[in-house]
Amino acid sequence: MCGIVGYIGSKEAYPILIKGLQRLEYRGYDSAGVAMLHEGSFNLFKCKGKVANLESLVAQHNSVGDMGIGHTRWATHGAPNDVNAHPHASGDGNLVLIHNGIIENYSTLKEALQTQGHQFLSDTDTEVLVHFIEDVHAKTGLSLFEAVRLALAEVVGAYAIVLIDKRNPNQLICAKKSSPLVIGVGDHGEFFIASDATPIVEYTKNVVYLNDEEVALLDRNEGLKIVTIQNQIKVPYIQALEMKLEAIEKGGYDSFMLKEIHEQPRSIHDSIRGRLNLSLGAVRMSGIDEHSEKWTQATRILIVACGTSWHAGLVAEYLFEEFARIPVEVEYASEFRYRDPIILPTDVVIAISQSGETADTLAAIELAKERGAFIFGVCNVVGSTISRATHSGAYTHAGPEIGVASTKAFTAQVSVLYLMALAVAEKRGTIAQDRLHRLMAELNSVPDKIEEVLQTNDQVKMIAEIYKDSSNALYLGRGYSFPVALEGALKLKEISYIHAEGYPAAEMKHGPIALIDEEMPVIVIATQGSSYEKVVSNIQEVKARKGKIIAIVNIGDKTVRELADYTIEIPKTDDSLVPIVSVVPLQLLSYHIAVMRGCNVDQPRNLAKSVTVE
Ligand code: AGP
Repeated sequence: MCGIVGYIGSKEAYPILIKGLQRLEYRGYDSAGVAMLHEGSFNLFKCKGKVANLESLVAQHNSVGDMGIGHTRWATHGAPNDVNAHPHASGDGNLVLIHNGIIENYSTLKEALQTQGHQFLSDTDTEVLVHFIEDVHAKTGLSLFEAVRLALAEVVGAYAIVLIDKRNPNQLICAKKSSPLVIGVGDHGEFFIASDATPIVEYTKNVVYLNDEEVALLDRNEGLKIVTIQNQIKVPYIQALEMKLEAIEKGGYDSFMLKEIHEQPRSIHDSIRGRLNLSLGAVRMSGIDEHSEKWTQATRILIVACGTSWHAGLVAEYLFEEFARIPVEVEYASEFRYRDPIILPTDVVIAISQSGETADTLAAIELAKERGAFIFGVCNVVGSTISRATHSGAYTHAGPEIGVASTKAFTAQVSVLYLMALAVAEKRGTIAQDRLHRLMAELNSVPDKIEEVLQTNDQVKMIAEIYKDSSNALYLGRGYSFPVALEGALKLKEISYIHAEGYPAAEMKHGPIALIDEEMPVIVIATQGSSYEKVVSNIQEVKARKGKIIAIVNIGDKTVRELADYTIEIPKTDDSLVPIVSVVPLQLLSYHIAVMRGCNVDQPRNLAKSVTVE
């Protein structure tokens, strides 16, 4: 959950490193550091807090050097402070290293090294790793590259590391296992390293995604060399980056989150384009078509995911059961991986992840794969670990999502899962052609409907002003809207720090209704559909306890307008598509409340964009 960058070439390294850290700050932001090598010595600076703190620290010092490494941290071992910030140095000071991940056997290694006189300045697992590499290097007399490979063979855990030896200004060494690492290949022996492509895209489009248990040597003169931990030579596979620079800028919005909320008409359009063929009246998804029999013979679908992706999975449960008539179970990946689940060879496992790097989801995939299931991934980041770990998959084309609170990725995920459910239903013959065509047309009209919903921004802001000082909130929905209630509550929790809960509206009577009084805002998704009347009576139950009702209703709704304190109108759509349209006002509501409470919406406290450790 940290962000790492590295550079070697002919340019000044520091400006490239600091800009890279700013781009990766969404991955972790409790301390940061850089080290540049110049004429045999390191200019190393690190401190607690955001990258901006590091910038003001470095500004008072000499930061020259045409090679260097940088790190922005999300603490796992050792509190966020100056000493535990990265980079960490070896005992002899010759090596400096940055690391994203967790070394699980670090205490065993530490004890062994301490018996040999190694002394440690920090509480981190990372400092133990650089001392261990130093030790193997000294003992074996092999090249540092070889020593890193041998040392990592003894390491248990997840890592993406970059290492510099001050005695060798021509080389950077990096390696990965579970944590992501991308190498940017520039001209004339210039190389860039980063946790994802966002710090690299403005310098080169040529990238190599390092695979698990690979170690790379980046040499100014000799170029790029990759070997596995088992010492197999690998030919670097250079890919062209599709990402555009402007996609990772704020584009005039106050925050990435607000920009990403407003990008949803385009991101949904891009996620369904080329897959929804209205003229043919068919859904075409190569990842499904290439493995048709897996879907037609599937007896169950297991969905594994975390957080917002898990909520998208809940919507998919309703979609696959309704359209494709396959039983679906939605699993928290973190529970699934340790529950010794029963997995049948005819199971299809759908793994949903925006980042494609979430450790629990990755582990759930590996477990299901071991037990013979067919794994289909739904990811947003091209080349991510999960997208390479699955048998097949479909990318959501939402573009880079930088705000920690997921918004456009959720609606893109539900759009892709919707297409998958229609495609599988068509293959299994469980949906009538006219219904299929009607739903395809409805899905195709969703981007325009969201354009309309985005016009309610000012009204939502007005409602946010009224409820910004709430200390609790309850979100209610039925059927397809139940997962949306959960998602709305999660958005409010993670960016405004207000305690909120999502509930199936009918569940209220079994407990949560006790929470309701005139202080409790109750946000209800009350769009016209199969359970409308039921939701109206749930609203009356809340009203009877003086709860404050904010209702998401369809344009022209009169009944709920009479009952609710505030209504936000959205265009009518089929029940099954309500999750994509009705979540947008909930995203805006949490956004405005958080801004009014002075919260950092793009980088909420204690959170990080991709959770690469368990
Ligand atoms: C959502 O806003 C959060 N950022 C978080 O719950 C996220 O959805 C979860 O960590 C899963 O991430 P993934 O989709 O990248 O796997």
